[in-house]
Amino acid sequence: MFVEKFRVESPGVRYGAGEIESEYRYDTTEVVPPGDGGAGWVVRPKSVTYNFKTSTSVPKLGVMLVGWGGNNGTTLTAGVIANREGISWETKEKVHKANYFGSLTQASTIRVGSHKGEEVYAPFKSLVPMVDPNAIVLGGWDISNLSMADAMARAKVLDSNLQKQLRSYMQSMVPLPGIFNPDFVAANQGARANNLIQGTKKEQVEQIKKDIREFKEKNKVDKVVVLWTANTERYSNVVAGLNDTMENLMASLEKNEAEISPSTLYAIACVSEGVPFVNGSPQNTFVPGMIEFAIKKNSVIGGDDFKSGQTKMKSVLVDFLVGAGIKPTSIASYNHLGNNDGMNLSAPQVFRSKEISKSSVVDDMVASNPILYSPGEHPDHVIVIKYIPYVGDSKRAMDEYTSEIFMGGKNTIVLHNTCEDSLLAAPIILDLVLLAELSTRIQLKAEGQDKFHSFHPVATILSYLSKAPLVPPGTPVVNALAKQRAMLENILRACVGLAPENNMMLEHK
Ligand code: NAI
Repeated sequence: MFVEKFRVESPGVRYGAGEIESEYRYDTTEVVPPGDGGAGWVVRPKSVTYNFKTSTSVPKLGVMLVGWGGNNGTTLTAGVIANREGISWETKEKVHKANYFGSLTQASTIRVGSHKGEEVYAPFKSLVPMVDPNAIVLGGWDISNLSMADAMARAKVLDSNLQKQLRSYMQSMVPLPGIFNPDFVAANQGARANNLIQGTKKEQVEQIKKDIREFKEKNKVDKVVVLWTANTERYSNVVAGLNDTMENLMASLEKNEAEISPSTLYAIACVSEGVPFVNGSPQNTFVPGMIEFAIKKNSVIGGDDFKSGQTKMKSVLVDFLVGAGIKPTSIASYNHLGNNDGMNLSAPQVFRSKEISKSSVVDDMVASNPILYSPGEHPDHVIVIKYIPYVGDSKRAMDEYTSEIFMGGKNTIVLHNTCEDSLLAAPIILDLVLLAELSTRIQLKAEGQDKFHSFHPVATILSYLSKAPLVPPGTPVVNALAKQRAMLENILRACVGLAPENNMMLEHK
C-alpha cells in the first residue's frame, strides 16, 4: 500500500503555522567497564527525551556548483530541466520520461506502518517538507567558458534526442569564471582553463562571495547551497602554522600562501557568507583550520566524495560479509573510465586523493568484529584506476572479494559494474543539496538543555551520500550503507515524532 502524504497524530507532535515540533524518546545503551561499579562489563539502557523543531517554510533554493560545466554539473542541470519541463525522448528501446531515479529523497520510500496487516509505504520526501528539485535555480562556476548546452554535448552523457530538446534551455547558461591553480590538478586540465578569476587568493575569495550575493539577488532565492563537483585536487599539505588552525589559515590567506587549494578558497568564501558548502570530491578541502572556521561560524560543511558506484557496493557487500561472520581478507578494485575525471585522475598526486578516499571505506566494518580480525589486522585492499578514453562516462568497476569461510574454506566474489558515472552522481548531488538545506531548518534540544540548537555544522547526516564521510573531530565514522540510511531516515522520523524503524513486526509474531 502506498500513501503520498501523511500526518502524525500523537500527543508528542504539534504541527504549527511555521514549524513541526516533536518530543522524542531517544533510547541508547551505556557500557560500563569492570571496576566502575560492576563485577564484569555492565550495559545500562538509557533514555533521553529530545525536542525537535523543524521549520516548514521551504525556501526558494539556489544551488551553485563549482565545476558546473563538467559531466556531473551538466547532467544534473539537464536532468532538473527535463523533469521540470516534463520532457520525454525516444531511443531505439522506448520513449523515456524524465525521472529522478537514484535520488534517495525523490525516488525511494519509507515504511510508515501497517493497515490491516498490510505494509504502508510513503515517499522518503514526505517525512518533512523539503525543497522540490524542479524549483531549484542552478548556477555556478567553471574554469571552462563553454555554455551549459555545449558543455552537455562535450560530456557525452545524455542521449542526443534529449540533448536536442534541452539545448535552448541551456544555451544562455554560462558558468562564472572559477579559481584555478594548476598545481592542484593534473597538467592535462590546463587545456580547458579559459575562464579564470585573477588576483590574489584573498581577492579570489572576495570574488566568490560577491558571486554568491549577486546570484542570490538576481534569482531572488532565499537560500544558496554550494557544492564542489569540480576536478579532484591533490591533497593539501597540512602544516603547523599554515592551515592547522582557523587563525593560521586566515593569516595564510592574507599572505597569499601557495598551499591553500582552490577548493578551500571556495569553502572559505561560503563559510564567510554562512552558505552551506559540500565537497563532492576526495581531496582534503576541509583542512583542520577550515573545519575550525566552519564550527566557529556555525556554517554547514559536508562531504567528502560522492558515494556512487563501486564504493556504494563495497559498503554494502563488506557489511554483509562481516555481518554474516565471513572474513574478507582481500579486496582488489579496478576501475577504468574515459571521461575528464579519469583524465585528471591519471596524475599520480591526484589519484592519491581518490585512493585514500576509497581505501578507508571498510574500516568500521572490520573494526566491528574482533572475532574475525585480530587487533590491527585488516584485509589487503588495493585500488587501481586507469584512463581509457573510449569508454567515456561509462566507468567500469571490477572488484574481487576473497573471504575466509567455515573450516579453512575460501569464498571469492567477482563483480563487474558499469557505473554510468554522472547518471549515478547527479541524483546524489541533488540529495546532498536538498538535505544540506533541510538540515539548516532543524533544531533540537536534549532534556536538561534550555535552548534549541542546530545540528553540528559538520553535517554527518550527509554520510549516506559520501565515500569518506566528514565527521566532527572525535566522532566515529560510519561507512556501512544500511546504517547510514537508517540514521538519516530515523532522524527525519524523529522530527515528526515517529519511532525508529526497528523491523521487529511483533504484531505478527
Ligand atoms: P568533470 O571533469 O567532467 O567536471 C569537472 C569540472 O570542473 C570541469 O568542467 C572543469 O572545467 C571544472 N573545474 C575544474 N577545476 C575547477 C575550479 N577550480 N573551479 C571551477 N571549476 C573547475 O568531472 P565529473 O565527472 O563531473 O566529476 C566531478 C568530480 O566529482 C570529480 O572530482 C570526481 O572525482 C568527483 N566524483 C564523481 C563521481 C561520479 O560518479 N561521477 C563519484 C565520486 C566523485
